[in-house]
Amino acid sequence: MQIYLDASATTAPRVEVINLMQETLLKGWGNPSSLHSWGERATLILEKARWQVASLINAPSSDAIIFTSGGTEADNLALFGVTTQYDSPQHIIISAVEHSAIALPAQILENQGWQVTRLAVDSRGRVNPQALSMAIQPNTVLVSIIYGQSEVGTIQPIKELATITKNQGILFHTDAVQVAGRLTLDVEELGIDLLSLSAHKFYGIQGAGALYIRPGVKLNSLGGGGGQEKGLRSGTQALGAIASMGLASQLIQEELELETPKIRALRDYLLELLSSFPYLTITGDTIHRLPHHASFIINHPSPLLTGRKLVRELNFAGIGISAGSACNSGKTQPSSTLLAMGYTQNQALKGIRISLDRHTTKEDITWTAMVLRQIINRLISDLNSH
Ligand SMILES: Cc1ncc(COP(=O)(O)O)c(C=O)c1O
Repeated sequence: MQIYLDASATTAPRVEVINLMQETLLKGWGNPSSLHSWGERATLILEKARWQVASLINAPSSDAIIFTSGGTEADNLALFGVTTQYDSPQHIIISAVEHSAIALPAQILENQGWQVTRLAVDSRGRVNPQALSMAIQPNTVLVSIIYGQSEVGTIQPIKELATITKNQGILFHTDAVQVAGRLTLDVEELGIDLLSLSAHKFYGIQGAGALYIRPGVKLNSLGGGGGQEKGLRSGTQALGAIASMGLASQLIQEELELETPKIRALRDYLLELLSSFPYLTITGDTIHRLPHHASFIINHPSPLLTGRKLVRELNFAGIGISAGSACNSGKTQPSSTLLAMGYTQNQALKGIRISLDRHTTKEDITWTAMVLRQIINRLISDLNSH
């Protein structure tokens, strides 16, 4: 039995999407920048996808969508695209629980002399809007706050945060990579200037993403070249992946209303099955939470019982989940997200994440909860007997 429960890492591309990718590569492989009919055909495919992605987030115009290679590049383009507009270092604000695609570019800016405020979060991983108001300085030029936190599932009060920055004339970016395809996204209603998306999180192909740029917002490109994507992202577009991102956007937009409640109900069932199990504690916000996402830390003091250990054990049992901590140079690092939420160094090595998608069944969840309990009980009794 094989059960994939790591949708926050990536989702299996839909068959329709793979078919469209193949068809595009076979019949629509022209270069959108060419003037002949091959180029025209490619341009039609590209612009259709742009329109489909724009529709997913209710962008005011498809022109507001710039295709990138994924969420990471969209995040980098937002941060560096805005900040390179300034001749001298200014101030930006992010949260203490950003994805590395924001946290590391912010670190680079800091090394270049920029001031970076990392807003603290509470024990559920939420940013306090008041703290944002207080952190704003006369030279603040950009605020970037993750919408749905990938590791602990917490959803931030994005509309409230965006309103604060809007009132002060400061640009607001959000990384919505984990939210797209799970919850309705409406950039107009939220009052957002910049928003990052990644196709492979909602059944598209890896290697396609987009940055929404509100009409009127000025960004610099990160590199020079042929001037594609309004000069913001030079290089011939990856047409097959982009066309399939368009279709994946359209299909998820059509199905979200039915799919999300189903996935949320299964996730709640998982939480219920594990709620009485003393060795797991839920992390993140239980109310403001991504609907497909469950995360825990293992309640046992032994440093041998880590999230990564549990991921490996579950993998032996045919179940794919994820650990919160990263491994750098062979050494496991505690999760910076859990540390920011107030967990100890030892606890921050004990995070796991279980994330569901449209293929998850009730049987998958029942089985996974049972196997997880058995594995943890066995590991703890092994530890106790040594
Ligand atoms: C919140 C968030 N931002 C950005 C990314 C990076 O997206 P991509 O893999 O498309 O570069 C991820 C991927 O895990 C993510 O979860």
